[in-house]
Amino acid sequence: MKYPLITKSSVSISPTHELASQKAAELFIDLGIKSLAAHGHYYVALTGGKTPEYLYNSLHEKLDDRNIHLFLGDERAVPLDDVQSNYRMIKESLLSGNDNEINIYPINAAKETLEQDAHKYEEKLLEVLPLNNFGVPVFDLILLGLGDDGHIASLFPDTDALLEMDKMVTSLYVEKYQSHRITITYPVINSARNIIFLVSGNKKNEIIKQIFATDNDTELPVTNISPSGKVYWFLDKEAATEL
Ligand code: 6PG
Repeated sequence: MKYPLITKSSVSISPTHELASQKAAELFIDLGIKSLAAHGHYYVALTGGKTPEYLYNSLHEKLDDRNIHLFLGDERAVPLDDVQSNYRMIKESLLSGNDNEINIYPINAAKETLEQDAHKYEEKLLEVLPLNNFGVPVFDLILLGLGDDGHIASLFPDTDALLEMDKMVTSLYVEKYQSHRITITYPVINSARNIIFLVSGNKKNEIIKQIFATDNDTELPVTNISPSGKVYWFLDKEAATEL
């Protein structure tokens, strides 16, 4: 059912990926200022993939508060210095040249110990983040990309991870990419105070059309989000041609 997501969504379309990323960066900073003022911390779950790199590079000199806590929304089961690692991409963009005391929590994921690794990350979330009345960790911001199949984080279509409502972090094998993954689950995504989607490129215009089309109720991982907070979409023109 997509309407909880859509009714909570505001959409910004920019001429280019760079401008969409800059607008997302401005909101990222603004939410940080408000979160730090409100409760003294800024809890963020970062997305992987390629889309956010420009955003991360534009933010990297702006993160300078030891009360910022950066988690990963998902990770591939590879060493942290592997070219496939989301943490490596984040370290080389968002944290490049940043020697401030930023708290970043990598997901150490190995194929052989994937379930235990997921459990360890869940424990870290529960230790560091405030919990809502259901005992679910609450992020001030969850930053998400979007796959052309409608996946978010590593919640891929036709995987059991979509059904996980008890664990906050789970592990899975993604046949399509022949990749073992760890991901936050819907309870965590749904409890976030704010969600930012950054989606660019013409490869995503079909999935964006499906998500926002009123006459199309296709079940997608992304449309199954039932957000308790606000949802902001930053699209470039190419991703929004069908809107
Ligand atoms: C990952 C991401 C994933 C990503 C989408 C879009 O680990 O790859 O968390 O959910 O956001 O796959 O990826 P692109 O930005 O590369 O298109």
